[in-house]
Amino acid sequence: MSANVRKFPDVHAASVACGNQILEWLKSAIAERGSASLAISGGSSPKPMFEMFGREAFAWRSVDLFWVDERCVPADDPQSNYRLARESWLAPAQYPEAKIHRVRTELSPDDAARAYVEELRSVLGAEPTFDVIHRGMGADGHTASLFPGSPLTVKQDGIAAAAHVEPPHLPKAQWRVTLLPAVLQAARHTAMLVAGADKVAALTAVLEGTFDPMKYPSQIASREGSKAVWFVA
Ligand code: 6PG
Repeated sequence: MSANVRKFPDVHAASVACGNQILEWLKSAIAERGSASLAISGGSSPKPMFEMFGREAFAWRSVDLFWVDERCVPADDPQSNYRLARESWLAPAQYPEAKIHRVRTELSPDDAARAYVEELRSVLGAEPTFDVIHRGMGADGHTASLFPGSPLTVKQDGIAAAAHVEPPHLPKAQWRVTLLPAVLQAARHTAMLVAGADKVAALTAVLEGTFDPMKYPSQIASREGSKAVWFVA
């Protein structure tokens, strides 16, 4: 049995299809347990999905929203994953503030990671299990802020951590806060949204190559036998 891969003509179609699937999963969770939890990633591919969310009449008051990872920049910085979601979705949808659990990047990276872990635990319990996690993939096979060669990619304990990511993984060194593999693996549903010709080689290696998450962190909780659905363009 191979991974569940759905192909689309372009990033917009893949992003919107990913969003519709996420809404279905969230609806089921709310119907089953009265609430739902979602963790989203940043980057550029999710923008059409976020814009669609911003237009949807949805029970966001029942959804606790977290981030898979965040750049340690001010919340209004153009690089902020939180800012991307706020501008394209949260503000237009008037998302209830109490359900938005951003990484507090005004703190130091380590303090922000510690505070984020506390918030994850207070909302989702000691071993956070998301109903839905949305992840992207970089051309190097990274996911979240788990980059090739990082010891965090094979760390089986812990919930979230600060990571100092350096070139060549990023153009400039940057602190990030990221969810750790155990939380990614525990998700009830994972949506992998991947678009771009520059990612084809990594995508093939991630889906069909030898399982080596230190080399290809996107292989975490996403291959055949996982609960992941890939939306690819
Ligand atoms: C981030 C993301 C990162 C992203 C991939 C893909 O903070 O940059 O969380 O993991 O998902 O880099 O980004 P694109 O969708 O822009 O290709």
